[in-house]
Amino acid sequence: MYLTKEEEKMLDSDNETLRKCMEILVAVGETNDAERLVEITSAHISGVSYDNIGEAGLEWLESLEGKVKVPATVNPAGMDLKKWMEMGISEDFYEKQMRVLRVFEKLGVELALTCTPYYLSRPKYGEHIAWAESSAIVYANSIIGARTNRECGPCALAAAIVGKTPYYGLHVKENRAPTITVKIKGDLAAAGYIGGEELKNEIPYFVFDREVPEYELKLLGAALAASGNTAMFHAEGITPEWKDFEKPSEKIEIVGELRTECEPDLITIGCPHTSKEELELILKLLKGRKVRKEFWIFTSRKISGESSDLVEKLESLGVKVFNDTCMVVSPATQRFECIMVNSGKAFNYLPLMRKVEVTFGDLKTCVEKAVKG
Ligand code: F3S
Repeated sequence: MYLTKEEEKMLDSDNETLRKCMEILVAVGETNDAERLVEITSAHISGVSYDNIGEAGLEWLESLEGKVKVPATVNPAGMDLKKWMEMGISEDFYEKQMRVLRVFEKLGVELALTCTPYYLSRPKYGEHIAWAESSAIVYANSIIGARTNRECGPCALAAAIVGKTPYYGLHVKENRAPTITVKIKGDLAAAGYIGGEELKNEIPYFVFDREVPEYELKLLGAALAASGNTAMFHAEGITPEWKDFEKPSEKIEIVGELRTECEPDLITIGCPHTSKEELELILKLLKGRKVRKEFWIFTSRKISGESSDLVEKLESLGVKVFNDTCMVVSPATQRFECIMVNSGKAFNYLPLMRKVEVTFGDLKTCVEKAVKG
């Protein structure tokens, strides 16, 4: 892989962190036949919950010295930084999680603690970025038209410190062409969960039979990326690059329908984190009715701060709104037996990560379940 003089110097730097970061980028680049590095405008780092990274991850992070070169944000932590006690998080976990966050702060990373960094600061069309967090990657590539590969957590951190990432894969326009046409019927999050495996290594070109709001596209992408490895899709008439390539001739159909049985003792929304529009929609669907079941919503502190009136109204109806974390990365949800979600990604990960049963419903069904008990 071609390196500029300045990049070669970084690879030889006395600063161990900078040297290691360059080594990571060069290794990834060479494995993927990247011709060079490309400058990025932002990085988003995953692997933040202490529950996910454990002691080894924490030690590695604490060994780092340096500062990020581009605006960088982080994924959700294992708890709400303010309401961690209300979530049932132990003091020991709190302390360890805070150590993780202090490292990121020292490195100059913004503690956004969200998987929807695009609601905070939206990259521009065509910009090169280095994002980890599979749901945000698919959103950035597909819905915004920014360019990122599926970066691993340490790779995104290395890219943030160097300010560059290897130029290959989805950074190159011709690699962004759709490979299969997919007609989707029914629930999009469920369709993403069902289709993930079949659409592995594909860039689907979706055709819908109805108008689709932005949040449903977000749920579709997140589910596809979780049950498969999708990093990008096109949606006819919607996403910014849908007209740039030929429509693939191979066609399949997916029906988004998930049947599940358990009776939920917790209902959660916010995987990926909710937008202000989703908070509004939930409030509208509640129609002033109080919830009878535990009903938790996850979002970023920034979104809930900007929507404080909505959050107040939701809380007055018995809904709990948590920031900085989510139902999957926080150990707080593992004390429940059956969790209801409207997210194909959470449906995929909750049984694996929290050893709970899951049941699925669209947003309206989740709200009705919370109200009617
Ligand atoms: Fe976000 Fe957690 Fe889902 S990090 S995408 S809410 S698993």
